[in-house]
Amino acid sequence: FSAFLTDTHARQHDYLRISLTEKCNLRCLYCMPEEGIALSPPTTQLTTPEIIYISQLFVNQGVTKIRLTGGEPTVRKDILELMCRIGDLRSAGLKELALTTNGISLWRKLDSMVEAGLTGLNISLDTLDPFQFTLLTRRQGFDAVMKSINRVQEMNRAGANIKLKINCVMMRGLNSEQLLPFVEMTREQDIEVRFIEYMPFGGNKWSENKMLPYEEMLAMIKAVHPEFHRVPDRTKSETSKTWQVPGFVGRVGFITSMTEDFCGTCNRLRITSDGNLKVCLHGETEVSLRDLIRKDHGGEPMDDVAFDAIRQIELDRRKGMNGELSGGEEGWMSKERQLLEF
Ligand code: GTP
Ligand code: 5AD
Ligand code: SF4
Repeated sequence: FSAFLTDTHARQHDYLRISLTEKCNLRCLYCMPEEGIALSPPTTQLTTPEIIYISQLFVNQGVTKIRLTGGEPTVRKDILELMCRIGDLRSAGLKELALTTNGISLWRKLDSMVEAGLTGLNISLDTLDPFQFTLLTRRQGFDAVMKSINRVQEMNRAGANIKLKINCVMMRGLNSEQLLPFVEMTREQDIEVRFIEYMPFGGNKWSENKMLPYEEMLAMIKAVHPEFHRVPDRTKSETSKTWQVPGFVGRVGFITSMTEDFCGTCNRLRITSDGNLKVCLHGETEVSLRDLIRKDHGGEPMDDVAFDAIRQIELDRRKGMNGELSGGEEGWMSKERQLLEF
C-alpha cells in the first residue's frame, strides 16, 4: 500500500469520496435555503476528463472504493459516462463504486449504472409520508424516490448485488415519528436504514433540541423492540454503528456526528467539486488538484506532481495534529466545513 495514503493513525486512506457538483434538485430544510446556494463559476468545477484522471491516480495509489456524492451527483449530465469510466478502473484495483443520491432521477439511470459497475447506493430519504416529504424537501418527488428504491431491490432479487442504505436525518418535532416506521422497513427488506444526527450546516435553523441524539433514538426503538442489539461492524473503517432487531432481515445504523466522533476509524479522502483534496472534513489543509492538473508542469509527469502534493497534505496534517485525532475538539461544528461537501 502506498505509504502516503497511510496516516498517523495507521488508517489506510483507501476510500475516496468525490463530490461531483454543488447543485441539487431538492431543497431539504436542513441543507439548503429555498433559493438554493450561490454556485461557483462553472469553470471552477472539475471536468469529465479531470474527474476520470483523478480517479485513476488514486486507484493506482491503492484506493479501492470510490463514492460519488454532491450536491446531487445525478444532476451532472456526464454521470453515466463518469460511472462507466470509473467502473473500468476495476481492472486497476477498484473494488467498490458507490453513489450517494436523493434518488429522484435514479430509477431512469439505474440499469446503466449497474452495468457500469455500481456496487453501492446510499439513498437519502427522511420520511415515508409523501406529504411530509414535500415539506422537508420543498419539492415533489416522493414517488420517484420510492420507485428508485423498489427498482434497486427488484434488481437485487434478480441477482444484482447492490448494497442499499437509506440515509435518514432525524429531527425532533419534524420527522422523529418516522423512526419506528423506518425500523419496520428492515423487517423483510435487506437494507440498512441509517439514522443521522441532525447537524448545524449551511445556515440551517439547527437547534440543539431539534437534534435527536443516538441514545434517545436507541431508547425509542428499544421501547418497542426490547431485543434490539448492536451487531459487529462490517469493516474496520465503519463510521456508523450498526444494530438489528432479531429476526429482521435488514439492519439499522446510526451516524452519531454530533454526540460521538468516529475520526479514529474514518478512512475517507475527499475531493470537492472544484477539485480540492481534503484528508479530513475538519482539516484546514487542502490541495487544489484542479490547479495542478491545469498548470503546465514544464514536462514533469503530472502523476509525480500530484503525488508530491498529496504527500505534502499528509505531512502538513501530521505537523498540525501533534498526534491528535483529526476531528480535534471542534468536531463536526468546525467552521471549516464547506457547504455541500458531505
Ligand atoms: P459508506 O460508509 O460507504 O456507506 O458511506 P458514508 O456513510 O461515508 O457516505 P454517505 O454519503 O452516505 O454519508 C452519510 C453521512 O455520513 C453524511 O451525513 C456524512 O456527512 C457523514 N459522513 C461521511 N463521512 C464522514 C466522516 O468522515 N466523518 C463524519 N463525521 N461524518 C461523515
Ligand atoms: N445534518 C445531518 N445530515 C445531513 N445531510 C445533509 N445535511 C445534513 C445535516 N444538516 C445528509 C443527507 C445525506 C447525507 C450525505 O448527508 O441527508 O443523506
Ligand atoms: Fe439536495 Fe442532499 Fe442537500 Fe437534500 S440534503 S438539498 S438532496 S444535497
